[in-house]
Amino acid sequence: MNPMVKELRQALTSVDDEAGLEAVRVEFLGRKGKLAEAMKALAGLPLKDRKGEGAELNAAKQEMESLFDSKKNSFEHKKSSGLANTEWIDVTLPGVAPAEGHLHLTTQAIMEIEDIFARVGFTRVTAPDVDWDWYAFESLNIPKDHPARDNWETFFAAPSEASAKEGRLGKIVLTPHTSNSQVRELEKGKLPIRMINVGRCYRRQSDVSHIPMFHQFEGFMVDKGLSVTHLKGVLDYFAKAFFGPTRVTRLRPHHFRFTEPSFEVDISCGVCDGTGLVSGDKCRLCKSGWVELGGAGMTHPSVLEAGGVDSSVYSAFAFGWGVERTLMMRDGIHIKDIRVLYQNDLRFLNQF
Ligand code: DAH
Repeated sequence: MNPMVKELRQALTSVDDEAGLEAVRVEFLGRKGKLAEAMKALAGLPLKDRKGEGAELNAAKQEMESLFDSKKNSFEHKKSSGLANTEWIDVTLPGVAPAEGHLHLTTQAIMEIEDIFARVGFTRVTAPDVDWDWYAFESLNIPKDHPARDNWETFFAAPSEASAKEGRLGKIVLTPHTSNSQVRELEKGKLPIRMINVGRCYRRQSDVSHIPMFHQFEGFMVDKGLSVTHLKGVLDYFAKAFFGPTRVTRLRPHHFRFTEPSFEVDISCGVCDGTGLVSGDKCRLCKSGWVELGGAGMTHPSVLEAGGVDSSVYSAFAFGWGVERTLMMRDGIHIKDIRVLYQNDLRFLNQF
């Protein structure tokens, strides 16, 4: 056996890490290592000896390489068998459930409202919540400086050059109600219409029952021969679907500029079942058997005309209610202050 092989075997016995192994590899098998030197020396031998020497060196080379490889393998084996002690998991343990979120209470209500109206053919549409004065007010019979505007404590958008000019459509407002969708929908020119628009509204107000940003849903139906009976039918249908089969609505005369006649819509109280009395005492929630839901009416002919629809041929009704308000009136949901909906307190939100 070539003495180099013996020497390498010796050297490898005292190697106990990868750095040591690399040093030994360089010493024996490296470009300037012992084997390479011996190969070089071959050239100086007399021709007759060269062949035998060469063959022996080649055999030594193979042997040295396999010695080296098996040492290297033993290191790798040690490393991966060590892994089993340090990095193991018990695949039979039950998993850690990922934190699961859910939709906001208002979003849930919006989806439910949308679904209830879809069942009677009302398609959800959208309208901008930053819109021209024309759609939010003028086209709905509420001209500039009219006192009725006081009911909608409106935010006007900071006057950009475009809106400051006050063109045909007036200034830009943050829509204070979803009724801006009515003339926008009429302008699309597709009749008849059965739409529901659920959107954000903004008003300068904040107390236990008001927030500066809230939601309304606006129903609007345009067809030939519609009457208050159709309106009442749709409202009753919604009241039963959303609040429960025993609830009924009533229409109370009111005034809106964009409907004639106009109504406030009340729903029978869920606490006293519409009687106004709870075990002989006045019901503390409604005092009268009814709670107010929102506004409605038969669309004023001039609103239809503003949207390019012939009011002598078509008639329409509309209604608009607050989503949060409707939600808060539902049985089992006791929210004393509407603002809690948007304070992002998970202790509150996670209850729904
Ligand atoms: N837009 C009205 C409001 O915010 C509510 C309303 C009343 C909407 C009558 C209607 C309607 O569509 O017909 O107070």
